[in-house]
Amino acid sequence: MAEVNLLSALPRGKRNVTARADAKTEEHIRTSREFGEMYFDGPREYGYGGYRYDGRWVPVARDIVKHFGLKAGDRVLDIGCAKGFLVKDLMNVCPGLEVFGLDISRYALTKCEPEVVGRLHLGSADSLPFPDGSFSAVLSLNTLHNFDEAGVIRALKEIERLAPGRAFVQVDSYHTPEQREIFESWVLTARFYDYPAGWLEVFRKAGYTGDHYWTIIE
Ligand SMILES: C[S@@+](CC[C@H](N)C(=O)[O-])C[C@H]1O[C@@H](n2cnc3c(N)ncnc32)[C@H](O)[C@@H]1O
Repeated sequence: MAEVNLLSALPRGKRNVTARADAKTEEHIRTSREFGEMYFDGPREYGYGGYRYDGRWVPVARDIVKHFGLKAGDRVLDIGCAKGFLVKDLMNVCPGLEVFGLDISRYALTKCEPEVVGRLHLGSADSLPFPDGSFSAVLSLNTLHNFDEAGVIRALKEIERLAPGRAFVQVDSYHTPEQREIFESWVLTARFYDYPAGWLEVFRKAGYTGDHYWTIIE
């Protein structure tokens, strides 16, 4: 299990944390947790404020292919794939790679990129409809923190089942109380989050042996 920043090539988005904190209500949280149109393509107070393909995942896809030594014919699963941006880019940077996605959002899947039609499954990360050991690598970026702790553990066990030691998860975290405060002002959908040490304990409880990194809002 290694700490590795596979998203280092991703541009850092600008977040107006104060505006989000001022606007945030229980209704925003409830609506964003539906992962529907409001979350992806509604106003910024509900989530992304417009989730559109812009190619930013291409260098990340290259880094993922390199990290796992992926090649044509290997199978990769992206859990929490949303509209399939990373699925599309992984297929483009590694021709012949068999890439699939899974997401709980019917809205996101019905708005997916044309290149990934038929490759995305509707489902939940804690119950993956695939055989043991069936993927060369499993990814889950910015998704697992949407469960409570018991759900995170179920999901990590599922990831481990599909690709033992061949996975990468990135989750919400913080290193300092100040960063925690910023995170809590911003967060809408996450239910479980912690300092890295807390996450490492959850990984241990789940028997997760893949790699990991943290999304930290600064
Ligand atoms: C913050 S977005 C991350 C999207 C993409 N992975 C990224 O990093 O840009 C979280 C995604 O997780 C999905 N999601 C939330 N709960 C889920 C669950 N239980 N199982 C699978 N996907 C889930 C949401 O629909 C959404 O697409």
